[in-house]
Formats: sequence, C-alpha cells, structure tokens
Amino acid sequence: MNLITRFNKKCKDFLVLILSLFMVQQHLSAQEVIPIESVTNALVLEVDEDKNVKIIYFGERLSNPNEYGEVPSVYNQTGHYSENLNAAYMPSGSHNLMEPAITVTHADGNTSLDLRYVAHKQESIDANVDLFTVELKDPVYPFSVKLFYKVYKNEDVFEQWCTISHKEKKDVQLHKFASANLYLKSGTFWLTQYHGDWAEEMQPEVSRLTHGIKTLDSKLGTRANLLQPPVFMLGIGRAPEEDTGDVIFGAMEWSGNFRIDMELDVEDNLRVIAGMNNFSSVYHLKSGETFETPKFLYLLSHNGKGEASRKMHDWARKYKLLDGSGDRLTLLNNWEATYFDFNEQKLFSLIKDTKELGVDLFLLDDGWFANKYPRDGDYAGLGDWEVNKSKLPNGIASLVKESKNNGVKFGIWIEPEMVNPKSRLYETHPDWVIKQPKREEHYFRNQLVLDLSNPEVQDFVFHVVDQLFVENPELAYIKWDCNAVIYNAYSSYLKQQSHLYIEYVKGLYSVLKRIREKYPLVPMMLCSGGGGRVDYAALQYFTEFWPSDNTDPLERIFLQWEYSHFYPSIATSNHVTEWGNQPIKFRVDVAMMGKLGFDIVVHELPEKELVFCQQAIKCYNDIKGVIWYGDQYRLADPKVNNVAALMYVDDEQDRAIVFSYLVNNRFNKKSEVPIALKGLDPAKKYRVREINLYPGAVTKVDESVVYSGEFLMKVGYNPLVDASRTSVILEVMAIEN
Ligand code: DGJ
Repeated sequence: MNLITRFNKKCKDFLVLILSLFMVQQHLSAQEVIPIESVTNALVLEVDEDKNVKIIYFGERLSNPNEYGEVPSVYNQTGHYSENLNAAYMPSGSHNLMEPAITVTHADGNTSLDLRYVAHKQESIDANVDLFTVELKDPVYPFSVKLFYKVYKNEDVFEQWCTISHKEKKDVQLHKFASANLYLKSGTFWLTQYHGDWAEEMQPEVSRLTHGIKTLDSKLGTRANLLQPPVFMLGIGRAPEEDTGDVIFGAMEWSGNFRIDMELDVEDNLRVIAGMNNFSSVYHLKSGETFETPKFLYLLSHNGKGEASRKMHDWARKYKLLDGSGDRLTLLNNWEATYFDFNEQKLFSLIKDTKELGVDLFLLDDGWFANKYPRDGDYAGLGDWEVNKSKLPNGIASLVKESKNNGVKFGIWIEPEMVNPKSRLYETHPDWVIKQPKREEHYFRNQLVLDLSNPEVQDFVFHVVDQLFVENPELAYIKWDCNAVIYNAYSSYLKQQSHLYIEYVKGLYSVLKRIREKYPLVPMMLCSGGGGRVDYAALQYFTEFWPSDNTDPLERIFLQWEYSHFYPSIATSNHVTEWGNQPIKFRVDVAMMGKLGFDIVVHELPEKELVFCQQAIKCYNDIKGVIWYGDQYRLADPKVNNVAALMYVDDEQDRAIVFSYLVNNRFNKKSEVPIALKGLDPAKKYRVREINLYPGAVTKVDESVVYSGEFLMKVGYNPLVDASRTSVILEVMAIEN
C-alpha cells in the first residue's frame, strides 16, 4: 500500500468514524419513549435503536415527561447477556433466556420469535381513560402482537392485554400467551398471595420473593380460584403495609385457569408475567385469526394497601362491577333453613318471613327442579331445569305471586353449567358433558361440567336463564352457582382438545353477554360452592359475589378483611346464618359490612332476636350508602389484634360507620387502647354514636362529647369492645361548628 493509498484509507476510516458517530446520534435521537401515565404513576416504554420495546420505568409520574428517557442512564445494570430482561412483551426462542410472555411454533416448524416495534398510538376514550396500543412484529415471519394498555387515570388502574395474529401459510401454535409482563426495578419484593379451599377461602401468606420463579396458578378449569385466587399484592422494599409504602395490586381478569409467574432475575429486578394458564392449552391459531388475551389489572400505590384498595374499589364500582353504583337487594335465602327439603307451603311460610323480617327479596335455593330424578339431594337432577311437580305443583309462578302478595321480590338459584349423571339431560346429551371417552367418570359433588365450548350447550344454558325470565317476568334475582371443577378434560365438540380450557371460559362469557343484552341489570350473584369463582372479568356480568359458604362470623371477619383488599363491599354478599353460635347481634353486624342477607328460620327466632333483626335491617338501610359507596379504611387487622376494626366514610367526610369486633376471647381481652380512625376531615367536629344496639342494651358510648376529626384520627376512639359487647357499630357524624 503506497503512502497516498494509506492516506486515503486513513481519511476513509476517519470519515466512517465520524459518520458512524453521527448515525448513533441519529439512532439515539430516533429512540422513542412512550410514557403511559395515570394521575400518580407512569409506565414508560422505550423503543431502542434496534426497535426492541422495553419497560424502562414503572413508578411515580414525573412532571416533565422528557426526563423519562434519562431513566436507563441512572441504572448500571445493563450488562446481562440476555440483553432484553426488560422487554415489554418477552418472546422466546431467539436471544431471550428468561421466562417468556409468548412462545410459538411457526407454521414451518420454527420455534423462534422476535418482536420489534412497528407503531404506537394513544387514544382518549374519555376524560379519565386512555388507551395505548403498541404494535410489534416479527422481522422474519408475518406474525404480529398488539399490546394494549388501558389507563384509568384518577384511579391509577392499568389494564393490559394483547392480541396475537399472523399471516403464515398454516396454523401457528401458541404455547404461551400471557396478557402482559411487567418489569419492576427495586431491591426487594414482598408477595402477599392467597390460598384456600371450600369454607377456607382467601387465606393470606406473605413472603419475600427469592431468585427464580414463583408461580400462582390454577388448573381447575371452572371455579378456578377454589385453591388459589388470581389476585396478589407486591410490597416494594418491604412487606405490604396498610398506609405506607409502595405496593402493587395485581389481578387476572379471567374466570378460568390462570398463571402468574414472578421471576426475580439475576439483576434483582422482578418480572411479572400474567395471563391465562398455558397448561394443556396449546392454541392453534389460524392465519388471519386474532387471539385476544384476557386483561391483567394492576395498580401501584405509594401509600400502602389501604389506598390501593380504595382506588380499586372506586375503579370497580365505576368501570367493572355490574351496576357498581346502583342499588342492591337485601334478602332471605332458604338454603340453610331447608336445604333440599321443602314444599310450596314451607316456602310460602318463608316468603311471609321475608316480609316479617323486612328484607327486599326471597331467594329460593337449590332443590326446586327435576322430576324423573328429583333434586332431593346433590346426587340427582342437576341439568333438568323444569319445576319439581311434587314439591311445587303450582310452579315458580305461584311463588312469585305469593312474594308479590307479601310485598317482597322473588329470586332463584341455578347452576346451569353442570349436570348430574342421574338426570334426563345427561341421558339425552351425553356428548354435552366434559369427560374423557376412555376413562371412568370422576365426579366433584356428584356432578360433571357441561361443555360450554359447544355453541349448542351455550344455547341451552342461555335458555335455562331466559326461560325463567320469560315465564316469570317479575323474577328479580339470580344466584348462579358452580360447584364442580373439570376432571378428565375432553370435549366431544372441539377438534383441538387443547383449546378446551380457554373455549370453556369464552363460552361462559358469551352466554353471560347474551343474558346481559336481554336482561341488563337484573341482580345476579356469582357463587361457586362458596367462593370458588370471583374475578373482574366475571363481575362485569354480576352485581355481587358469594365469598364463602363459611358464614361463622368470626371466620368471616378474617375472610371479609382479605376480600376487602380487592373487591368493594357493595359486591360482597354476606348472610346471617346459624354458623358459629355467635350472638345474633355479632352475626348481623359482621354481615352488614357488605351486601346484607339472611339464611335463618325467621319464625323460629326468639321474639327479641326478631325485633333486633328487624331494627338492624332498618339501620342497615339507613347506613348502607356509606358502606357501599364510601371510602373503606381498614383500622385494626384481626390477624394481629384482639379487636378488629374497619370503617367507611362518605365522600363529604360528614358521616362514617365504624365496625369493631372482639376476635380473641382469651384472657378477658378487650379494646384497651383507642383505635385511630381514618379518612375524616381533621378540621371538622364530630359526634360519636353507637348504633344497631340489641333491644334493651345500653350503650357505653358518651354521645354528648364532640371530637375534632384530628383527635379521632391522631388519638383515636375506643369503642369499648369487651366480652359483654363483642361487636360495636359506631356512627361518626359531623356537626355544625
Ligand atoms: C353451594 C353454595 O355455595 C350454597 O350457598 C348453596 O347454594 C349450595 N351450593 C346449593 O347446592
């Protein structure tokens, strides 16, 4: 190489260097930051120079959005060879080494997926709700994913889901198809998760997440939350606390198998991957077809789980729960009063009891149907939804009429997704039943699950409900039960067996949608052999849910406390029953912290107890607005205190209702110290009054004292709970200065 050539080469190298520096600059300035903001928080995505979409921030919103782009520069954590730990939606089979959000086999058998940015947009749905869409595409295959982020700004709630589609020549197999993955940066993460079983639902456990993967999931098919519900909390830096600290609430909006993986990665960051469970569910996606995942719901609070709950409740009442801001009916249910053993006369007498008690509606439970195999126990009749002629010779109509004559409404129990093998339905349509053809049938409560992936079965279930309304237009309430899980998962309708768990739930939603199109607001209770099924996808169709068959009020204080984190009181059905042998006042007071009902033999109540119940219902009707629509504050946790307390405050901070209960009867325990109230106006003056007293009882509360809100919140108030007053309800009323 001569000198000139050498000089030319040097110049060329220099030019290339300048040019490449310039191009990096171009690339950098081409990097796009996408802030998805609520009033308090921001989830920030970044599109890097290679068009990878990454999560660079989930935390408190900055006032200058231009600064979000600087977030990665203040972390010194980017050296890992997996490169894309913080992918906004983690694909697998290419350079990712972590738990993926999506795994596929392409039509040609290739198992790799890469997803790069194509476009994004922001739409304003209304003043409070924004929808962000981010489109991703594989650079090699005609395979696309759209990420959706719906933000409810004032409530700080994010809903995330995605759609998956392709234009490959044959089906693509989806092996995993999460709704979302999150990426959280912090030192430590503390998980509150729940587990349970029949009559033991919603038991919390708190643990510090260690490296590796922690999975919350369900494989039960129907009543999917029986053993583990799809809700959780993540304390950031410390275990979730009531009023302080950063906490994330998460929930899958899906009524079937779900899977939530939490992977603490090598750089101590947490990846949360949430979606339907891919267990036994490879999905064969046709060319041009779109697969939509359910929504993953999350919200971040910087003031503990109390604030997170209040925001979640506000959101649920406003946007999810059916008729969330509407009215609810108090009721008398006959399940524990009669079980299957009733006739028209007995029910007439219970309808009179309903009137006598002063509740709005009589709810007829299980046992009213089937003739060839009468529903006299849980071993027969399920599926044969015609009135049992020997129990009810004059049909449902006469019960509706009798209710009307007594000035109360009438509601009915159904379990339309299920069948007993001892039924006409099973005999006529064995092909409608989920069961493996070559295996012995396996029962849960003597029953099997109908195959809701089959449109004929969907029609049948719709008509069970429709028929009831058509024949009884004044029918005012439905209790929708679901007692069995799916064993031996096999559909004689589906070509792809691995679609069954997913198509079942979609079939259920399509029936519920049809019902709601025709009967938009009729109250329906979501029940599932106790609390085996509750989530925010189902609650779009239901006005309330049944938390547990365990109605022992002491247990119930704990159960309701846990449910109260995620679901508003207006959705939580609580019935007064004979469980627990507690005094009637204790039982009623506990049930008042939600949607009140009764399941007792009213005409067998001692006179004084009846009078108490009648007065309690009047009291409840007076305060229910504060309980249902007010802000909820958990004051004293039953798990760590002798006295549990919880309160509700109306929007104006003029009226609050405080519930307190003795939850430990050892060593003559009582409320020794004041309980700090919350949510009042410190500047307002309040008077405290005890309400819902048992007839003849004299309150220990001095109602003449006036307290400032500041005093009640800083010093607190002692409800004087002890063994002689195991349950106390206080009304805190603002007075004119
Ligand atoms: C289970 C429910 O949880 C109960 O309330 C009751 O409705 C029974 N099923 C009826 O079989």
